[in-house]
Amino acid sequence: MPPAAAPLPCVRLLATGGTIAGAHTTGRGYRAAALSIDALVAAVPQLATLARIDVEQVAKLGSQDMTEAVWRKLAARVQRAVDNPALTGVVITHGTDTMEETAYFLNLVVRTDKPVVLVGAMRPATAMSADGPMNLFNAIAIATAPAARGRGVLVVANDEIHFAREVAKTNTTQLGTFASGQRGLAGLVNSGRPHFYAPPVRRHTAASEFAPLIAASVSERTLPRVDLIFAHAGMDRALIDAAVAAGARGLVIAGVGDGNLGATALAACAEAAKKGVAIVRASRTGGGVVERNIEIDDDRLGFIAANELNPQKARVLLMLGLTCTRDLRMLQEMFFAY
Ligand code: SIN
Repeated sequence: MPPAAAPLPCVRLLATGGTIAGAHTTGRGYRAAALSIDALVAAVPQLATLARIDVEQVAKLGSQDMTEAVWRKLAARVQRAVDNPALTGVVITHGTDTMEETAYFLNLVVRTDKPVVLVGAMRPATAMSADGPMNLFNAIAIATAPAARGRGVLVVANDEIHFAREVAKTNTTQLGTFASGQRGLAGLVNSGRPHFYAPPVRRHTAASEFAPLIAASVSERTLPRVDLIFAHAGMDRALIDAAVAAGARGLVIAGVGDGNLGATALAACAEAAKKGVAIVRASRTGGGVVERNIEIDDDRLGFIAANELNPQKARVLLMLGLTCTRDLRMLQEMFFAY
């Protein structure tokens, strides 16, 4: 008798919506999150060759409507799944628009070495040549790959594997929208076969100080308000003052160039910092490192430099950082560590 085949690994598939679950309406229009996760799985029978999959529809939204409450709910669901010894990994279907923020949030709060993979698509499920089915196949394959363990939360799309910390959406419509321009890809995946490159360089998941904190009380916690303001030529102080008046405990500035901003806006940020609002300088350029004390005297003004994080990820880290401390030096160290 031939030896019995090894049982397939088990993967939990958590669905949140997005274009991967989108359906055409009229003309070129479509509605994100129209299809259930059962319909997406049924459309890719080849998934049954990779894993036994159990599904949960955690949310059904376009990711422009993603909220911190859904992040917390998702984190709790992921934590529960990875704590189950019968499960090998987790895949999350998600809209591409804010996928990088959800991925980075989970990268900081979920305590595990198991693969956690976010996947989306640029074309709706009902489109000609939809990219979702192969992306989903690849994501499930990565969630079962031993080499994916310990690499933090990953994003899979367009035959590429990205680290949550590095990935950014860079194009409105094209399939190759995700890029990890700064430190590069986590790897490639071809029809489910992974090819991993170097491991991630910064702290994440099991080594994150936020993991135990959030895992303990993820569904009850609320995150502090952190606003994100895009700097531009001729900027005044109105939006900065409005954010402070709205109760922001932190403010991320997507600054020009090296995280810079004009004198009027700078003065408003300095006043906000004196009132105890944590000010993080990031860059709107999409690349490079924002360092301390180059054009702006961060030490004197009490600012934090975003280092390598883009503004939207700097906001995620600042929200989590502010749940632990308001000490500027400690917050700055977090931007060097994560
Ligand atoms: C969304 O982010 O939900 C819409 C866009 C997409 O998924 O590609």
